[in-house]
Amino acid sequence: MRTQVAIIGGGPSGLLLSQLLHRKGIDTIVLERKTRDYVLGRIRAGILETGFVDLMREAGVSERMDKESFVHDGTVIAFGNEQFQVNFTEHTGTPVVVYGQTEVTRDLYDAREAMDGKIVFNVENVEIHDADSDAPYVTYSVDGREERIDCDFVAGCDGFHGVSRQTIPLSVRKEYEKVYPFGWLGVLSETPPVHDELIYANSDRGFALCSMRNANLSRYYIQCSLSDDVEDWTDQMFWNELKRRIPEEAAEKLVTGPSIEKSIAPLRSFVTEPMRWGRLFLCGDAAHIVPPTGAKGLNTAASDIHYLYHGLLQYFEEGDSEGIDRYSEKALARIWKAERFSWWMTNLLHRFPDQTEFDIKMQLADLTFLRDNREAQSVLAQNYVGLPY
Ligand code: FAD
Ligand code: DHB
Repeated sequence: MRTQVAIIGGGPSGLLLSQLLHRKGIDTIVLERKTRDYVLGRIRAGILETGFVDLMREAGVSERMDKESFVHDGTVIAFGNEQFQVNFTEHTGTPVVVYGQTEVTRDLYDAREAMDGKIVFNVENVEIHDADSDAPYVTYSVDGREERIDCDFVAGCDGFHGVSRQTIPLSVRKEYEKVYPFGWLGVLSETPPVHDELIYANSDRGFALCSMRNANLSRYYIQCSLSDDVEDWTDQMFWNELKRRIPEEAAEKLVTGPSIEKSIAPLRSFVTEPMRWGRLFLCGDAAHIVPPTGAKGLNTAASDIHYLYHGLLQYFEEGDSEGIDRYSEKALARIWKAERFSWWMTNLLHRFPDQTEFDIKMQLADLTFLRDNREAQSVLAQNYVGLPY
C-alpha cells in the first residue's frame, strides 16, 4: 500500500489531521491499535479553546459541536469558603467551549467514514522504518496478516505509550519530565452541573474540580493519592469528599447520583524534543503531557495539528518545506507555555504531601493576589483561552 501521510493513532490528533488533509486532497491512512468503541469509551477532556473550535470548523466537522456545545465566559476559582470569577471574555474577548473529547472524536470518526477515509483498527506491532530517509514505510499486523505502507511522511499521533516517540533514537531525543505525587479521581454522572461555570477549588483536603458535559451530565474530579484504587472509592465516599472541598453554597446545591464512569489519572508534565525526526512528526500526547489542571491536554494536541497541517499543505501544494522544517520549533514554543501554565495551575490548587506551612501561605498569597488583581486575572484568562497559534 502507498499513501502520502501514514498516521499512527486514531485519537483526536490523528483523526483531525487525517480529516484536514483529506479535504485538501492529500491521502492518509490512520492505524489505530484499538476499536472505535474503545477509543470512544475513554472519558477525557471537556474544554476546547476557540483555536480548536476553529480547526474543527476548518475540518468541516463542527455542525453538532456548534449546536450542542456550551460557551463559557469565565471560571470560578475557590479557596476555603471564598470564591471569585475570572472572566475570560472580558479580558481576552474570547470564551472557551464545553464539548467533550468523546464527542469531538465521535464527530471526527463519523466525518472520516462519510468521506471513506482509511482507518485500520486493531493493528498490532506497528513499526516505523527509515524515517530519516526519503522513503519511510510503516509495517504492522492486522487479523494475522503482515502489512506495509510506503509513504512520504509519518505522523506519530499515538499518545504517550505509542511507538512513534520511541522510534527517535535516544541520541537525538531529549525528554523532560515531572511526575506529581497525586492523581485525579474523576466521576461522570447523569446529574445537572452544580454551577453554570467550572469551579476549580483549592481546599485544605486537596483539589476539586466541578465540570460538565451538558445540562444533565456532570464531570467532577478530586485530587487523590496515587496509591488509591478506584474500587476503594464508592460513589457515596466520592460525593462526601467532593462536598467537603468545594464552597458551602455549591456543596448544598450539589445534585448527586450514581457514577456512570469513574477513573483515576496520574498527573505528569512531559515534553520530548525535537518533535520531528526526518520524515516523522510527533503530535499531541506522543510528544508532550500536561497535568490536567487548566485543560490544556487536548488543546495542545490541536495546536500541533494546526502547525503540521499547514506545513504539509505548504509542502504538497507549493513544494515548500519551510513549514515542516519549522514544525518542531513552532509547536514547542507554544507547548512550553502551556506546560508552564498547567504546572502553575497545578501548584496553585493542589495539596502536596511535603508542603510546609510556608508553602501553603505562598499559595494563599498567590490566590488572593489573583482575586484582587485584574492584570493577574488577565494573564490567567489569556492562557486558559489559549495563546495564539
Ligand atoms: P490519544 O488520545 O492518546 O490517542 C492516541 C491513539 O493512539 C489512541 O487511540 C491509542 O489507542 C492509539 N495508539 C497507541 N499506540 C498505538 C500504536 N502502537 N499503534 C497504533 N495506535 C496506537 N486533557 C484535558 O485537557 N482534560 C482532561 O480532563 C484530560 N483527562 C485525561 C485523562 C486521561 C486518563 C488521559 C490519558 C488524558 C487526559 N487528558 C485530558 C489529555 C487528553 O485526553 C489528551 O491530551 C488527548 O487525548 C491527546 O490526544 P492524542 O490524539 O494526541 O492522543
Ligand atoms: C475538565 C478537565 C480538566 O482537566 C479541566 O481543567 C477542566 C475540565 C473536564 O473533564 O471537564
